[in-house]
Amino acid sequence: MSAIFAHRGWSARHPEMTRAAYQAAIGWAATTGAELGLECDVQFSADDQLVCLHDEDLRRTAGLPDRPVDLTVAELKRLDFGSWVRVSPEPEERELVTLAELLTMTAEARAAGAAVTLAIETKHPNPRALDVEDRLAAMLADRGWDGPDAPVRLITFDLDSLERLGRLLPGVPRTLLVHRDLTPWWDCALPDVTVVGVDLTLLRRDPGFVEHLLSQGREVHAFTVNHPDDVRFLRDLGVSGFTTDCPPEVHAVLDEP
Ligand code: G3P
Ligand code: CA
Repeated sequence: MSAIFAHRGWSARHPEMTRAAYQAAIGWAATTGAELGLECDVQFSADDQLVCLHDEDLRRTAGLPDRPVDLTVAELKRLDFGSWVRVSPEPEERELVTLAELLTMTAEARAAGAAVTLAIETKHPNPRALDVEDRLAAMLADRGWDGPDAPVRLITFDLDSLERLGRLLPGVPRTLLVHRDLTPWWDCALPDVTVVGVDLTLLRRDPGFVEHLLSQGREVHAFTVNHPDDVRFLRDLGVSGFTTDCPPEVHAVLDEP
């Protein structure tokens, strides 16, 4: 059974990680009955809340040089995270979401019957020495989402973060993300994780890496997979998780006989 993760929400349709992008992903999952992970990156705002944003600064997504950690949630909420894309949703749907809001959206969608889960990525160590992993663990524990049945997966490129997450949330599944260079990962022992998520471009270059991981008893996920040919290529290699900007397209290919 393959897993699909909506990368930054349904980000091919709406500006990434906005309320609109997550609502569209949830709406698609609810309508089709498909299982869908909602992927997000989290980092701190100036008032110590975890917000869903990918970049270290706001240039690309909101046209400002500031870093998310320089602005409060109230200030971030006033920014327009949508007008930089060609087809923009209504203004009220262009705002960023906090992790607390995304947890609530996910819980409400699940209560209404949608098979949605979360894939939360720790990003950018916080310059003010607050610990993203500690906060995340506390927020998940508050909801009772800190055990093996939680609808949550924790993902990260950062080995220190992976280790802290394993210590704080031992029951919650984790994914080590790999990009840039596969060389060290062929020869070194990988950390104790069941799932490894690999950049599609690396797997195109070095498809044997999937077999290498599978032979170690691991599952392999891939990102960011938007083209049907890439989905078929990865599926045939044995990849079982697909992070994509356009979940319906990936779902359609995985449904092929
Ligand atoms: O899910 C993996 C993917 O999100 C990692 O890449 O840069 O989009 O966070 P990035
Ligand atoms: Ca991410």
